[in-house]
Amino acid sequence: MLRVAVIGSGPAGIYAAGALAQHGDVLVDVIDRLPSPYGLVRYGVAPDHPKIQSISRTLEKIFEDPAVRFLGNIEVGTHIDIEDLHRFYDGLIFAHGASVDRRLAIPGEDLPGSTSATEFVAWYCGHPDAPPDGFTLDARSVAVIGMGNVALDVTRMLAKSADELRTTDLPEHVLDALAASQVEDIHLIGRRGPAQAKFTTKELRELGDLTNADVLVDPRDLELDEASELMRTNDPLLRRNVEVMQAWAARTPEGRPRRVHVRFLLRPVEVLGTDRVSGLRVEHTRLDERGNATGTGELSDIDAQLVLRSVGYRGLPVHGVPFDETTGVIPNAGGRVLRDDAVAPGEYVAGWIKRGPTGVIGTNKHDANETVAALLADASALPLAPVRDPDAVLELLRERGVRVVTWQGWRAIELTEARLGQAQGRQRAKIADREAMLRAASDGPGPEQG
Ligand SMILES: Cc1cc2nc3c(=O)[nH]c(=O)nc-3n(C[C@H](O)[C@H](O)[C@H](O)COP(=O)(O)OP(=O)(O)OC[C@H]3O[C@@H](n4cnc5c(N)ncnc54)[C@H](O)[C@@H]3O)c2cc1C
Ligand SMILES: NC(=O)c1ccc[n+]([C@@H]2O[C@H](COP(=O)([O-])OP(=O)(O)OC[C@H]3O[C@@H](n4cnc5c(N)ncnc54)[C@H](OP(=O)(O)O)[C@@H]3O)[C@@H](O)[C@H]2O)c1
Repeated sequence: MLRVAVIGSGPAGIYAAGALAQHGDVLVDVIDRLPSPYGLVRYGVAPDHPKIQSISRTLEKIFEDPAVRFLGNIEVGTHIDIEDLHRFYDGLIFAHGASVDRRLAIPGEDLPGSTSATEFVAWYCGHPDAPPDGFTLDARSVAVIGMGNVALDVTRMLAKSADELRTTDLPEHVLDALAASQVEDIHLIGRRGPAQAKFTTKELRELGDLTNADVLVDPRDLELDEASELMRTNDPLLRRNVEVMQAWAARTPEGRPRRVHVRFLLRPVEVLGTDRVSGLRVEHTRLDERGNATGTGELSDIDAQLVLRSVGYRGLPVHGVPFDETTGVIPNAGGRVLRDDAVAPGEYVAGWIKRGPTGVIGTNKHDANETVAALLADASALPLAPVRDPDAVLELLRERGVRVVTWQGWRAIELTEARLGQAQGRQRAKIADREAMLRAASDGPGPEQG
């Protein structure tokens, strides 16, 4: 029996565990720093997208295989290090994602009221590391920087009324904050043009279907230069995106309570304010022949009391694991970890920490399969771990005072969340507090694994 530890129970880690279990003759432990599995499926996917959230129902089947264990509430690099893991496992697959935000490196970025979409998403998704009082939403006007799907998610969450979100699994304190929101205007700001936006069309369309907000686009912003016209002609996704926005530009605003202003060719240069954010200074840009933005020198100020940068995610180094500071990923060759440019025996990587923070949930399946294929091809040559008892690692963690959450414990958390939700007339309400999650996990009983 090969023994493999997968570090991170997001889609990449779970798909990797599934591929290993399917192969047979492998025992897999999927380790996560959180008491819950599913990574960004639980703490990223927007709560008003229950169909995408329900991918967790497919992922959970992998934990029903007796060859796969979930071991939550264990932070690799803190509670247990890589050398320890090599004593218990023949192979390690790092799949710990990209959990922090990229920065803009502009003056004022750290003023109170200037923060990242990463933090806002973590807060509304009830991530145990996000302070419950992290957002009061007393801003009238918000600037969201970036033109990707995360920017669309946070814009939608700010634009919807609390009543529209009451049936979701949002934690109660988040629903209360959203109900008290003063937000009226949301400026979605891109440094390039509509043909360069990274949105997917389905998600973009949703913005136009909001009942609580008008979507406003200046038709002049949709006039494409020659290079963008060519990009649009050659790419059906870009063509559809531009068509969707052209239809919005032709609409007459209906006087809805909130307004989403979609604005292009504006590069943030400074977050304004003294004690807290009062606005965002932007420089108007033009595109070069390759579609890149260059500043024109013309500046404008956008009224904003909250600035959310949504310019992408970034991986974090884990102690003892190689990390490329420039790209924010673990150096690898097709999923085999490289240490000083040489393949590190028994170490593999999958998901966002392998290829960077792009791609939808399904992208991680193909990615994880490539990694598992590499591991299985190497299997006969892997250095065997000296400790073969599967419970020895649990013993070590217990000695270190770590309250490990097993699959049964996670099921108990789920049950508690379902009860909490039902008491409020919805299917589920997330518990955001780590201590409360651990209490629920140990109170049990949840159904047995396997
Ligand atoms: C806000 C947001 C919304 C998204 N919405 C969608 C969507 O609607 N549809 C879609 O298809 N895709 C969506 N995506 C993309 C999708 O979530 C990612 O492609 C996917 O989650 C990446 O998988 P991963 O396993 O690499 O990382 P993650 O999902 O981030 O999982 C990494 C896991 O590793 C754990 N971990 C981190 N450090 C450690 C450590 N030191 N020790 C142990 N465990 C650790 C984390 O707790 C986490 O559970 C979204 C992404 C974001 C950011
Ligand atoms: N529903 C879904 O399917 C869903 C939901 C959420 C996320 N996701 C996926 O998750 C991944 C991550 O999404 P994301 O939105 O975080 O990233 P993203 O798609 O890479 O978008 C990042 C945006 O930030 C902009 N940006 C980067 N640096 C900037 C700077 N210095 N100044 C101004 N703008 C800057 C980029 O503009 P440039 O193009 O000019 O660099 C781009 O518009 C994507 O693959 C996404 O599709 C999917």
